[in-house]
Amino acid sequence: MAPREALSTVLDGELVGHDGLVDRRVLCDEDLYRRELESVFERSWLFLAHESQIPNAGDFFATTMADDPVLVVRQKDGSVAAMLNSCRHRGMRVCRADVGNAKAFTCTFHGWTYDASGQLVNVPKYDEGYHGELDKSKWGLVRVPRVESYKGLIFGTWDEDAPTFVDYLGEEMCWYLDSLVDRREGGTEVIGGVHRWVIDCNWKLGAEGFIGDMYHSEMTHASVGLGALPDKGWQYGAPRGHGTGFFIDGLEYWNGAYGDEVVRYYEEIAPEITNRLGAAAADLVSACAHGGVFPNFAYLTGAAMTIRVWQPRGVDRMEVFSWVLVDRAAPPEIKEASRRGMTRAFSASGTLEQDDGENWSEIQRVMRGSVARKHPINYQMGFGHERDDVPGLPGTVGYVNGDLPGRGFYRYWAELMRQGPLKRANGDGSG
Ligand code: FES
Ligand code: FE
Repeated sequence: MAPREALSTVLDGELVGHDGLVDRRVLCDEDLYRRELESVFERSWLFLAHESQIPNAGDFFATTMADDPVLVVRQKDGSVAAMLNSCRHRGMRVCRADVGNAKAFTCTFHGWTYDASGQLVNVPKYDEGYHGELDKSKWGLVRVPRVESYKGLIFGTWDEDAPTFVDYLGEEMCWYLDSLVDRREGGTEVIGGVHRWVIDCNWKLGAEGFIGDMYHSEMTHASVGLGALPDKGWQYGAPRGHGTGFFIDGLEYWNGAYGDEVVRYYEEIAPEITNRLGAAAADLVSACAHGGVFPNFAYLTGAAMTIRVWQPRGVDRMEVFSWVLVDRAAPPEIKEASRRGMTRAFSASGTLEQDDGENWSEIQRVMRGSVARKHPINYQMGFGHERDDVPGLPGTVGYVNGDLPGRGFYRYWAELMRQGPLKRANGDGSG
């Protein structure tokens, strides 16, 4: 591979090749990272919160969209608004709590106060200092222009012209995602708060891993005695970079990880899932699926469920926001067993989680080398063996151990990087 080139040359060339090879600089180049914050994250639908986190008017959750701090707030009319958590006066964070309920947000620097919709409602020394001349209606918090909820999952985008979230997902990915959020009457809720931790690796290692890498499981998770996994299963990759993979006939396998009672629960609800989503979805739900919505939302189904976001915090660092997801209709003991099982396996101290994080941070460390970063990484597994004739499964699928979703993830990433940042009018940006 050529030595380091100017960014424009890299983007015109083979950063993501049609042959399944990916230039390692996508994971470690500072210029590419700065560009992807604008070209990828400002153009995409990003996960903000689960509806169950903010049930009442004034409830808020402080998160980030990529590295921008954002407040997600339930409005009086029941809708959800999201706004940049940055005071319009000098830029201070206006809300420094992670979660809570508020009628207004008062900046701790000079005291500008915004209501729950982000409107500027009070400015200290307004008459004496500003002589009443500051137009408060123009200095509200910067609103996230598009916010949509999909069956409990709230997403937002900075791109006013983005397709609707459902169109962004595509019909096929909706079907796969429904196996997570729409399998029982009443949908889902999150329990046990938000787990947050930092891993020293590029966000794409987490994102692409959950979208498309079942292959690592037997080797990486040998430390917790997973052993030989089921050998039947499929993976799917969406045109806009989303993806999922799952075993079939694997429920018994997960017994040890989450407990008999959870496995029995899944056996009991299988008919309801079949009724709602079809037999193929019931298989998929019960036998552990990984998946993700481009760029950085991820989930696991199976005997217990998590949803999460890989928040970029620099080219070689990400912060994980992770929740335990349960069926709202599940009995309390199953919710508690899921919470315990998920925390044990996939949380900051989770056994499987640490296996993954160790690999990702070590990959990032290796790329500090000037030679290592010049050699491409390989996404050729299953290339040319895709199928679109598997009964019950929408879209083009491949064998569960493959790189079909990973190739799609990087292809779409490269497409957005080529398109470049959003072109927007340089107005005052108020909401
Ligand atoms: Fe917020 Fe001055 S920075 S009031
Ligand atoms: Fe893993």
